[in-house]
Amino acid sequence: MNDLSIAQALPNLRIARFRQEIDAAVASVLGGAHYILGAPVERFEAAFAAHEGREHAVGVGSGTDALALALRALGVGPGDEVVTAALTFAGTAQAILHCGARPLFADVDPHTWCITAETVEAVLTPSTRAILPVHLFGFPADMAALCAFAARRGLAVVSDCAQAHGARIGPRPLGSFGDAAAYSFYPTKNLGCVGDGGAVLVDDPVLAGRLRALREYGFSHGTRISREAGFNSRLDTLQAAILSALLPHLDAGNRERRAIAGRYRAALAGLDGLRLQDEHPGGVNHQFAVAVPDRGELAMRLADEGIRTAIHYHPGLHRHPAFANPKAAPLPISDRLSASLLSLPIQPEVAGAEIERIASAVREAYVR
Ligand SMILES: Cc1ncc(COP(=O)(O)O)c(C=O)c1O
Repeated sequence: MNDLSIAQALPNLRIARFRQEIDAAVASVLGGAHYILGAPVERFEAAFAAHEGREHAVGVGSGTDALALALRALGVGPGDEVVTAALTFAGTAQAILHCGARPLFADVDPHTWCITAETVEAVLTPSTRAILPVHLFGFPADMAALCAFAARRGLAVVSDCAQAHGARIGPRPLGSFGDAAAYSFYPTKNLGCVGDGGAVLVDDPVLAGRLRALREYGFSHGTRISREAGFNSRLDTLQAAILSALLPHLDAGNRERRAIAGRYRAALAGLDGLRLQDEHPGGVNHQFAVAVPDRGELAMRLADEGIRTAIHYHPGLHRHPAFANPKAAPLPISDRLSASLLSLPIQPEVAGAEIERIASAVREAYVR
């Protein structure tokens, strides 16, 4: 091990970078009137909705809750199926189980690593109620095609934007597509807080009201009367204030990620057997993964150089006991990617200043 020690993600470095603004945000909550909901949450909701091109944001306790509450608010329940990706974090499919529904896994496209209208159509059943595309590693799935397909089939679309804060499709924010877009503010996300947090973005005011009721004991608006089964899943006021301090830095952080990804692409071009996710002009590079025949060997060589990598995601969710379905169709592309992806350091505070060294170390470790 040499003196270069670079972890895959260190969210505390981002906090250190913006520490003054964060300290001021925390102090304002501590000295303020609300520790649950209140003006800091409303301010963040308004700013985040505007940033992602939506009418309403509803801050909730986590990204998993954001997905589950969005599905519930759209009427997904027991006996329903929701089509999603298997190449993603477990929270995506847990949210479907939380509604009493079942996940149905569609395979991903070999170039974008996201599900498509065609792969969704291949697994659809009469019980399917919704499509839940995941924008893996910040790459926007083809939402125009997925939403058009969903409209033809009468399906709801809940977009899992947990890895895609600030992503765009053409001029349009990715979060503005579908019936609802769900976000996680887990500390390592492109917009992350210092604990758990999430949000659902919608345009329909009735749906927004339903989400506000679901996040707070099923209360009728402005009352403490429970009209339906609800949760205690509110975005923490302290986290909302921190997120308001970090949101103005999101787009610059995404540009830094794209620049780091571009440097990796240049350094790794033409390497035999190494594959990359397609490039998307509106993508936000939450992760930068390489698909290689022997990732164990590459990870070990990089660790010898002091570069720590990570695996996202193995095994695919269709192989987790909680989500397994013996009658499900095989997912050869998801399986192949799941066995070969290795995520390199991409966080600007980790890789930014070191990118030349890291990129050439990766190239040398691969060709050796
Ligand atoms: C794609 C995806 N969906 C859902 C989640 C769940 O979010 P949370 O951890 O905030 O519940 C995550 C990450 O954590 C994720 O990466």
